[in-house]
Amino acid sequence: MKILVINGPNLNFLGIREKKIYGNNSYDDLKKYLLELGKKYNTEIEVFQSNHEGAIIDKLQEAYFEKVDGIVLNAGAYTHYSYAIRDAIASLNIRTIEVHLSDITKREEFRKISVIHDVCEKTFFGKHFESYKEAIEYLLADK
Ligand code: DQA
Repeated sequence: MKILVINGPNLNFLGIREKKIYGNNSYDDLKKYLLELGKKYNTEIEVFQSNHEGAIIDKLQEAYFEKVDGIVLNAGAYTHYSYAIRDAIASLNIRTIEVHLSDITKREEFRKISVIHDVCEKTFFGKHFESYKEAIEYLLADK
């Protein structure tokens, strides 16, 4: 199974940004964690990050041509307002799982809205790196 993990804006600043919310671990730690999971589950995992909406859409469209089996997406703040990313996900026909490090249901009002929620198969949130693990295990459980 080929899984693509996409991280949106400011996630490269993990370990620097708002540590009380996002923790002390760096983005490199997250990458290592995800690649280790790939080894553990004998699954191809690619990890991509961009601060740019268009680059995320390009990567989503590339996933279609690369025949990716599942996408794990932390769209960062784009989660709350990017109809362009929403449309890209809707166009793909690839299982897409929404993830968040923090519990977006217990933060500011604007974070409670996810415009990608209903085009994603499932959402895992509030468990830091474990949210990604749950998403990957969910995809693998139902191949
Ligand atoms: C986030 C939550 C978003 O509201 C925020 O803009 C992020 C990270 C999370 O992983 O908790 O950048 O997606």
